[in-house]
Amino acid sequence: MGLRLAVSGIAKSYNGDTVLRDCSFTFKEHGVYILTGPNGCGKSTFLRICALIETPDSGKIDYSLDGGLLRPDLGLRRRLTLVLPKVGVFNTSVSRNVAYGLAIRGIRSHESERRVNKALEFVQLGHKKRQNALTLSSGETQRLGIARALVIEPEILFLDEPTASVDQKNTGIIEDLILQMKKDKRTTVVMATHDREQAEKLADSVLAMKDGKFS
Ligand SMILES: Nc1ncnc2c1ncn2[C@@H]1O[C@H](COP(=O)(O)OP(=O)(O)OP(=O)(O)O)[C@@H](O)[C@H]1O
Ligand SMILES: [Mg+2]
Repeated sequence: MGLRLAVSGIAKSYNGDTVLRDCSFTFKEHGVYILTGPNGCGKSTFLRICALIETPDSGKIDYSLDGGLLRPDLGLRRRLTLVLPKVGVFNTSVSRNVAYGLAIRGIRSHESERRVNKALEFVQLGHKKRQNALTLSSGETQRLGIARALVIEPEILFLDEPTASVDQKNTGIIEDLILQMKKDKRTTVVMATHDREQAEKLADSVLAMKDGKFS
């Protein structure tokens, strides 16, 4: 059995404005879960809270494995990744950008190279690995962000609008790789999108957010 995330009664306000009021959901392993809802309804906030980057004002984020609760420590954080809509890159080659997450985990040389190449092939950027990452197109940069996340083999991958400002061809590539992850059953994907067709195409479950909770 894989990592499970149970979110219950999450609330979050910023400067007195309530964004999330009572969000509850259980993410079972190995599915694609899509968050939809209007601008500003709290999708990105919810993703940051689930990825343990931000803390809720109240409610619980419970990660468990084989029925046992996991502590929200660095070890757990390293099993999750959040890819933001605007991927920031370092001023160095595409492959070094992807290798960074492995280097900080102490994975270097041959193993790192093997995993970087695999992740770049997966997002169809193998041929760009020596190019400076700052010179990639937006669609390619978005795919680099996904490769950088995948290289660390996260058990839960949070994607915040991975195809916003990405053209049809690159959107297709990103959608295909999410479908591939769905088939491989190794990664749970939790993703925000405004694209309804995309939600239908990819989702095992669609979570519609309205008034700070799932309707
Ligand atoms: N750190 C913060 N400080 C103050 N307000 C914040 C902060 N983070 C989010 N907000 C506010 O919370 C609300 C929800 O924002 P969030 O980014 O979660 O929405 P969203 O559903 O992702 O929207 P979009 O579809 O436009 O990406 C917005 O009004 C936003 O300005
Ligand atoms: Mg957002």
